[in-house]
Amino acid sequence: MSLFRTVFSLFTLLQFISATSAEQTVQTLELNPDIINPRIPPSPKSLSTNKKFEGSSNLVDLKYHMGPVLSNSPINVYIIWYGKWAKRQQSPIRDFLHSISPSSASSAAASANTQTVSDWWKTVSLYTDQTGANVSSNLIVAGEYSDHRYSRGTHLTRLSVQQVIANGVKKAPFPVDHKNGIYLILTSEDVTMQDYCRAVCGFHYFTFPSLVGYTLPYAWIGNSGKQCPEVCAYPFALPAYMSGGGLAALKPPNGDVGIDGMISVIGHELAELSSNPLINAWYAGGDPTAPTEIGDLCEGLYGTGGGGGYTGQVMRDRSGKTFNMYGKNGRKFLVQWIWSPVLKACVGPNALD
Ligand SMILES: *[C@@H]1O[C@H](CO)[C@@H](O)[C@H](O)[C@H]1NC(C)=O
Repeated sequence: MSLFRTVFSLFTLLQFISATSAEQTVQTLELNPDIINPRIPPSPKSLSTNKKFEGSSNLVDLKYHMGPVLSNSPINVYIIWYGKWAKRQQSPIRDFLHSISPSSASSAAASANTQTVSDWWKTVSLYTDQTGANVSSNLIVAGEYSDHRYSRGTHLTRLSVQQVIANGVKKAPFPVDHKNGIYLILTSEDVTMQDYCRAVCGFHYFTFPSLVGYTLPYAWIGNSGKQCPEVCAYPFALPAYMSGGGLAALKPPNGDVGIDGMISVIGHELAELSSNPLINAWYAGGDPTAPTEIGDLCEGLYGTGGGGGYTGQVMRDRSGKTFNMYGKNGRKFLVQWIWSPVLKACVGPNALD
């Protein structure tokens, strides 16, 4: 693939020159990110879930079930940091969320090319409801709350996580935002969760009026760094039995296996939450209790030519960090692709065609 690499480098250089002439205070650009397509065996999770559809397929029966999507703008995200969180762990996650709206694509790297987080979100915005309203392209962090005292202990369940949200909307300065709000519960690496590491790395659902008082869409994602990075922070960690044989884990773009792994899962859950907030809008399969959603269809796929044991073509910077999109504050992220209802295939901002 050296031909492609040369063309890509030239293109990047041209982008750099145009960005520099347009703006004096230019951030350091990656002049020569290598393009790689690492061979990675299927993750232990996707082996058992059988939910992977690489590339295009007419067999995928993704359907619209007449429910709402998150079309009100902006989508207001309320974050609950549950457990012990360090600032250096929080800031890449915040930067990722801040990178979704197009207005935030202000860094030189972001404006000079289209391989950005907000370009990645464009695929999610292609989903509409029955009135033709698209998923909003704007998302903001509307509030944050630290549940550092583990209000429901260090082990959570699908029910107790709703009580964490109830605390958030009752005690913390969180409004009950019916119209635009979604709630994101992020648990630190010492918190365990029902089915975590076996069946789930994150999930989304909506709260029950009987527990929380309202129906509010939410997602939970855990930091798997200590508990199961080889499952939930894949491909930044590989199961022990896979090491050797030339397979190596990829270097995380923000230097933290647990956090970088979490960011891809956050992307996955946000995409699904936005297109299927009440589990009655966009999903495949006949069973709404086990829907296959727009992130599930592309799990483990990060670039063109992925599937069959390859991540797809992604970028690698000089320090060896792997990524497939640029974000705010000079950040880089490696986030899985999303199923496009238009192309009927998995799509990402680093797609080559
Ligand atoms: C809204 O969705 C339709 C159908 O997928 C698409 O053609 C259109 O480009 C979308 N608009 C935006 C702003 O994303």
